[in-house]
Formats: sequence, C-alpha cells, structure tokens
Amino acid sequence: MMQQIRDTVDSIAKKQDISPDELHLLLTAEDSGGLEYLREKARACADAIYGDRIFTRGLIEFTNYCRNDCLYCGIRKSNGNAQRYRLTSEEILECCREGRELGFRTFVLQGGEDPYFNDDRVCEIVSRIRAEFPDCAITLSIGEKTRESYQRYFDAGADRYLLRHETADENQYRKLHPRTMSLTRRKQCLYDLKEIGYQVGCGFMVGSPGQTTETLYEDLQFIRQLQPHMVGIGPFISQHDTPFAQEESGTLDQTLRLLSIIRLIHPHVLLPATTALGTIHPLGREMGIQAGGNVVMPNLSPVSVRKKYELYDNKICTGDEAAECRHCLEGRMHRIGYRIVVDRGDYQP
Ligand code: 5AD
Ligand code: FES
Repeated sequence: MMQQIRDTVDSIAKKQDISPDELHLLLTAEDSGGLEYLREKARACADAIYGDRIFTRGLIEFTNYCRNDCLYCGIRKSNGNAQRYRLTSEEILECCREGRELGFRTFVLQGGEDPYFNDDRVCEIVSRIRAEFPDCAITLSIGEKTRESYQRYFDAGADRYLLRHETADENQYRKLHPRTMSLTRRKQCLYDLKEIGYQVGCGFMVGSPGQTTETLYEDLQFIRQLQPHMVGIGPFISQHDTPFAQEESGTLDQTLRLLSIIRLIHPHVLLPATTALGTIHPLGREMGIQAGGNVVMPNLSPVSVRKKYELYDNKICTGDEAAECRHCLEGRMHRIGYRIVVDRGDYQP
C-alpha cells in the first residue's frame, strides 16, 4: 500500500496533474507512511522554491454587510443576528499604519458585498493606501464586481484580488448558494481579474456539505486551468445562524492532504495556512505549513469588530490585538523551523 501511495505522489509531482483515481487514493489512503511521504514531498517542493520563508498578509475585515446569502456564511444577509459594522477610511488606514509598523507589506481588505462601498469609495480607500504605503501590496477581497469596476480598483493601485470560487462543480455550487448566484459568473470574474493584471487567488472550503472526491477533482482541474497565484483553502466550519448550522465541519486531515496535493500540482502557488485551519486544531496552521503552505494571514482588524466578522463558529484570535497575533505567529513558525519575512511576498514564477 505504502509503495502505491509513494508512486502516486511521485507521479502527480512529476506531471503536475492528478487523475480522479489518484485523487481518490490520496484522499482515502490510511497508510501513515504513505501519507507522511505525501506531506514531505509537498514540503520539499515548497522549500525548493520559497525556502524557510513564510509570507504574511494583514487581513482587515472592513465591513460585514453583505448583499449575498451564501448558505454556509455567518454574514449572509438573512442572518438577522449578525451585528453589522463598517470601518471608516480613517480606521482602515489606521489598521494599515499599525500593520506596517508590525512588518506587514501586504494588506488584504476583505468584506461582504456591501453596496455602501461603491466603486468611488473603494477607489478612494485604495488610492489613499497606495499613496501612504507605496512599498506595500494592496489586496482586495470584496466579491463579484463588473470587469469595469475591477479595472478601476486596479488603476487606483490595487495589486491583487482574492475571490474563492468555493466549488468548481455546478451541482455543488447550487447546494451552497442561492439561485441568484452563478458559478459561470464567478469563474468569469476570476478570468477578468487575471486578464486585467491582478495577482489572483481562488479557493474552496474542504468538507462543505455535499462535497465529494468528484467535486474536489473539479476544483483541482479549475486551479490547473486558471493558474492562480494564490489558492486559499480551509475547512468548512458550521456557523450557528446559517442553514448549515447542523452540518458537520470539514476535517484537519482532509484539508492537509489537499494542501499537499495543491502544492504538488501547482508548485509556485502562494498557499495560506488559514485561520479556519487554526480554528479546528490548535496547531492547524503549523501543520498547514508543514503540509506545503507558505503564507499566514493574521488579523489586523480592530479588536472591537473582530467577533462580528463571524463567518463560522469559534473563530480564533477574536480577542487578540494585531501585535499579539503577529508575535504569536512568529513564534509558531519559528518553533517548526520557519521564519516570517518582511516582504510583499509576491508570486515567484
Ligand atoms: N466555514 C469556513 N469557511 C467559510 N467561509 C465562509 N463561510 C465559511 C464557513 N462557514 C470562507 C469562504 C469565503 C471566505 C472569505 O471564507 O470560502 O470565500
Ligand atoms: Fe492570533 Fe495567535 S495568531 S493569537
């Protein structure tokens, strides 16, 4: 069994592709020696390109208003229990200032699809960050927009855009989203962003209700097609005020396997060990790095709003100041032999 797994791992690393059968084998294998080989091979692949350097991005969750109603998400518009908030431009800039002092050179502005932040307001914020922090990358993560809007943000100074595709399988997409949303449109957004010149990140949740090896295979194929610069994956975690409140969460084990597989089929990718991974296990982020990840994204949002950006239950770090998270992660990476670098952390082709 172990030999078969090793051969499969070597084969996917070599061709940078995976077949449905190979994926099935790697997601169901129980041989610990074989699984260790998967992890080691993925980690060696990341080491060869990025060495012991771990990139960091400061996440600023600037609004939890959202016009969408994704079934899994705690800030969906139907959740009347969510306490809504918006940060002002000045508050956002204050987060960036603190972040820059702490060594961040990338800011990720993430929010729900909030109509208040129209293109003029987004551009105003982006331009102000661009002017004050010329050496920092600006990443937006604010959902589906028209190509024209994406172009305007880019012209205002945004460099990167994160938009998880959530699942590349049509049926699965419909299970997770209201009818008004469409996978075709979401994929088109990602292609538009890439064409405009953004560094783009797609991604999906692991263990979302109804997900199968087949739908995951679609995700991996989509990653191969899109060739994103970043891929964000983390376990699905149920949120008590959503229709999926009673659904089982995704597992650490499956998420780690998928991180390794993604590293092997897309070696240069920027791959975060996500907060969701840190939420389902106290050492989840460390294990994510050891499975092939090379990015961590601590929170820079003001502590006063942290708990309100509750996409899923039990999210970690909601009571910790930015500086605490920064130092905490530094220690965590150090203990496993890696170091956080003060760097924009661009994709290395
Ligand atoms: N569990 C895990 N991840 C979630 N996200 C949204 N809701 C959940 C949840 N319940 C993820 C989505 C989204 C990202 C910002 O957070 O993939 O794209
Ligand atoms: Fe936030 Fe450890 S990363 S407290």
